Amino acid sequence: MPLLVNNRNLVLIGFMGAGKSTVGAELARLLDYRLIDLDHLITERAGCPIREIFAQEGEGAFRELETATLKTLASLNRCVVATGGGIVGRSENWLAMRRLGPIVYLEVAWTTLNRRVLGDRERPLADQEDGGTRLRNLYESRVPLYRQADLILDCRNDSPRQVAERIVAGLES
Ligand code: S3P
Repeated sequence: MPLLVNNRNLVLIGFMGAGKSTVGAELARLLDYRLIDLDHLITERAGCPIREIFAQEGEGAFRELETATLKTLASLNRCVVATGGGIVGRSENWLAMRRLGPIVYLEVAWTTLNRRVLGDRERPLADQEDGGTRLRNLYESRVPLYRQADLILDCRNDSPRQVAERIVAGLES
């Protein structure tokens, strides 16, 4: 049964650097949906960048804000929701995401993710000076969670546009 049903939304999940926002923008264009970037909404709500939320209030406070912001989306339709990489850590987030619509995991090779995000100062969990060991462990611990998505899309070396087209094809089949 096709997963792409009128008036629902699409939720993109995946590790930091998987391209959720860029692929999300292409998907929104392709489907004529609105793009909602959850991290962007969180920073608006907090009035400061994510790195500052982590530095001043800690990761726990960020996770509370992330869940609360996700829950505000419940009445939306025809939106592509690009989430942050850690959204998969709480079961209540899964319930909220499943209510929005089909969940798509953007699967990208670890070497690519590592190259894209290690040392990124705007991503507190990637801004580490241990050569990437903790980041790798975080990635490994999350893969089984990401794989609970309705659709797993192996992004290979495709452009964001190509990935978006393959998502639509995957959801329609
Ligand atoms: C996080 C990923 C970030 C952001 C925050 C925490 C994570 O989003 O939500 O820094 O725990 O993986 P991106 O996946 O868009 O980088």
